Amino acid sequence: MSSYSYVKCVWAFYLLSSWVPTLWFAQGADPYLPVKAVNLGNWLVTEGWMKPSLFAGIPNQDLLDGTQVQFMSTKLQKYLCAENGGGTDVVANRTSPSGWETFRLWRINESTFNLRVFNKQFFGLENQGKGNKVVAVLNSPGNSETFQIVRKNDDGNRVRIKASNGLFLQAKPGLVTADYGGSGWDDNNPSVFQMKIVRTLQGEYQITNGYGPDRAPQVMQDHWNAYITNEDFRFLSSNGLNAVRIPVGWWIASDPTPPKPFVGGSLKALDNAFTWAQNNGMKIIVDLHAVQGSQNGNDHSGTRDGFQEWGDSNIQDTVAVIDFLAARYANNPSLAAIELMNEPLAPGVTLNDLKKYYKAGYDAVRKHTSNAYVILSNRLGPADSKELLDFARGLNRVVIDVHYYSLFSDMFNNMNVQQNIDFINNQRASDLSAVTTSNGPLSFVGEWTAEWAISGASKEDYQRFAKAQINVYGRATFGWAYWAYRCAQNHWSLKWMIENVYINLSSS
Ligand SMILES: *[C@@H]1O[C@H](CO)[C@@H](O)[C@H](O)[C@H]1NC(C)=O
Ligand SMILES: *[C@@H]1O[C@H](CO)[C@@H](O)[C@H](O)[C@H]1NC(C)=O
Ligand SMILES: *[C@@H]1O[C@H](CO)[C@@H](O)[C@H](O)[C@H]1NC(C)=O
Repeated sequence: MSSYSYVKCVWAFYLLSSWVPTLWFAQGADPYLPVKAVNLGNWLVTEGWMKPSLFAGIPNQDLLDGTQVQFMSTKLQKYLCAENGGGTDVVANRTSPSGWETFRLWRINESTFNLRVFNKQFFGLENQGKGNKVVAVLNSPGNSETFQIVRKNDDGNRVRIKASNGLFLQAKPGLVTADYGGSGWDDNNPSVFQMKIVRTLQGEYQITNGYGPDRAPQVMQDHWNAYITNEDFRFLSSNGLNAVRIPVGWWIASDPTPPKPFVGGSLKALDNAFTWAQNNGMKIIVDLHAVQGSQNGNDHSGTRDGFQEWGDSNIQDTVAVIDFLAARYANNPSLAAIELMNEPLAPGVTLNDLKKYYKAGYDAVRKHTSNAYVILSNRLGPADSKELLDFARGLNRVVIDVHYYSLFSDMFNNMNVQQNIDFINNQRASDLSAVTTSNGPLSFVGEWTAEWAISGASKEDYQRFAKAQINVYGRATFGWAYWAYRCAQNHWSLKWMIENVYINLSSS
């Protein structure tokens, strides 16, 4: 875009706006931009894959909230099925399992669960427990929707399911009833099922509810205290980083007594981060990573069972979280930006709902500060990367966040090293330039990593791949943030990458 039209747009903005023009001209001129940042992932919002050992002390740790299970009757060799996906009877006559034969656990304690079906109803006894036929009709679970999963001692996937009436479920072809009083584990026993776990979740909900109210507060506090300290901020600032993006969950706004199973203390940890940032000349991007209802169904959205349910009815509460964070940190010199929501997923999060929320969230931040940037994450999934640009042009000091991983898509599976690097230099450069406009929001590659779908690559391959990304993402006008700082998988850990000289930011 020519400098002439840039001046024209700025002038038009000045005429239309009540902001003093210096604020507008300050955009892009902040000395810390573009940021070189890292995501403090798995600190205040848990993601099990980044530190699996954190889950190791949970009893029955493979049966956490959101675990998806299937049950095959050993006698009938048929699967339990919520007929029609839910809303009517549970049957036991399917030869192969799919969506209707898959159930999501809500964990009550280590052996007691609710089971949520495809259409979101819960397994239960008919007439709220007055009968013994198993149905899936209620949308919220009560006592008659509560089942104990009894595992065989020497084979944890051989189970019997005890209902609230004290009797076990037994499979009959067109019917499942809770009326079996016998015992035993024989194949011929109609109350014995082969359980298959087909998906697990390991997020904040799973770890806090997994440890339960007696143990979770201490486990989380120990994790928060040890995972990130002032020393980490010192390490980052002395290695060429100048900002951190900190994922937080919606429950932080009701600290110290968030709704169960979440536990208090993450707010104090975030306060500490602001102190450490100030000590070390770093900026902070507060990123609302998990919203009530879940914006993408992923572990890191704080979801209980993986259903994506954030929508219009959650906007007000989510804005209240932003308002809380903005009020608390608006005047802190280390605050660079507040990100309103991480990775909303299309089409479940509609563009309409998202814009409505982004406008209200933006206004909530602006009530407290005209200076902090407001970051709008692009939608993942089938969505146009430019869909927020026009909307964002009407706002001041806003940023579009895009996440560039050379993973999570089959298209990367057959790329060699050079093809991966070419992809960054060509495709990603072009993707980024499409969202980097001279008269619009700033651009931010808020997540990227030097891991890829290649195994056995050399150190030099990784160095070249990282360098190509740093070079291209360095063109983002707000900057970039590596995912992540600490991670059990080395290439995802910027700390490990710096210490082992895969990445050297002092030279770039
Ligand atoms: C789990 O909860 C059920 C139902 O409330 C209760 O009967 C059972 O004793 C509990 N088990 C454990 C191990 O706490
Ligand atoms: C399973 O049983 C139900 C209830 O009897 C019946 O409506 C349905 O057609 C059966 N499905 C199969 C695949 O046998
Ligand atoms: C990183 O790059 C800088 C500048 O080129 C250089 O001085 C420094 O020695 C490098 N660090 C390492 C650990 O190689």
